[in-house]
Amino acid sequence: MKTITFGQTGVDVSAICLGTMEFGTAISKDKSYEVLDMYFENGGRFLDTANIYAHWLEGGKGGDSEAFIGQWMRDRGNRGEMFIATKLGFDMPGETGTLRPDAIKSECESSLQRMGIDTIDLYYAHRDDQETPLEESLKAFDELVAGGKVRFLGASNFMAWRLERARDLSRANGWAEYCCLQQRHSYLRLQAGTTFTPQLTINEDLMAYSRAEGFPMLAYTPLLGGCYVREDRQLPAQYLGVDSDNRIQAARKLGGLLGATPNQIVLAWMMQSDPPIIPIIATGNPEHLRENLAVENLQLTAEQLAELDAAGICGERNMVLIS
Ligand SMILES: NC(=O)c1ccc[n+]([C@@H]2O[C@H](COP(=O)([O-])OP(=O)(O)OC[C@H]3O[C@@H](n4cnc5c(N)ncnc54)[C@H](OP(=O)(O)O)[C@@H]3O)[C@@H](O)[C@H]2O)c1
Repeated sequence: MKTITFGQTGVDVSAICLGTMEFGTAISKDKSYEVLDMYFENGGRFLDTANIYAHWLEGGKGGDSEAFIGQWMRDRGNRGEMFIATKLGFDMPGETGTLRPDAIKSECESSLQRMGIDTIDLYYAHRDDQETPLEESLKAFDELVAGGKVRFLGASNFMAWRLERARDLSRANGWAEYCCLQQRHSYLRLQAGTTFTPQLTINEDLMAYSRAEGFPMLAYTPLLGGCYVREDRQLPAQYLGVDSDNRIQAARKLGGLLGATPNQIVLAWMMQSDPPIIPIIATGNPEHLRENLAVENLQLTAEQLAELDAAGICGERNMVLIS
């Protein structure tokens, strides 16, 4: 698998990250191990989890995914090769989701213990906490880095201005700063006037910010639960509309021309966008993983990327407005 330099950290990470949200709960141990092993054999080294995964699923209590990947790394003896990202900030049983210093400290310890590791490679604020003064959260995060508990810090579900304010404060105080942003992102766009709160999406503002700053972004839910191809999955209401219909058609048409699946077109489109975005793919089906990883062999031309960008109704609307 290709690697890319992770912004200002200078570290090379896998160009495709594997999400592990349902490991340890909804996806069986055998299937999860098959998927993890296949990802690893293909060169993948970047895993995404969170303290809350996946307390809302049957049998889940939170920390299930962390414990599961910790066990997998022990069984495979590969901790030293993996780049492990986890998060805190949302409610889970026994923990009110905040970015208060005490929560940052204790949740980090709990995550380390559940995974059985000494250091978290990338520790995210899973959401912005506007009730806790930024300085307090950022100082606590910095102490984790200074104490060797965490290597790098990330932000997730942040607005651009809050992200920049946080980074600015960290720099002014000489603290470790957020090195990347993880948001909801796929080829389909939320329809005007809808939100996915508390999940926030990548938008034009963040694309420009990331491009200008060389600041890496990661996309969660890149395949929208398989909705590009699956009859058994319903698009969330926020995506329903002509814009989405046109974009699905565009992905299918280009896929047909190139002998690629719509999922591969979607992943290639985001990985080859400017700036390139790291997708966090997730599956309990090894065949789906194989399909998703094969995106590495799919190079889109500048014209094809531009055509995909232009599909939808917004471009046409703007043309009408300015003509
Ligand atoms: N920061 C945040 O707030 C946040 C929020 C949500 C998720 N995440 C992270 O992002 C990761 C991915 O999120 P997600 O699960 O929402 O992503 P997703 O893009 O919706 O992908 C997962 C779903 O897509 C299906 N799928 C995957 N590949 C497929 C293929 N080739 N063909 C058909 N169906 C396919 C999977 O079903 P099968 O199992 O049947 O393949 C699964 O139901 C999570 O594991 C987590 O680590 C972060």
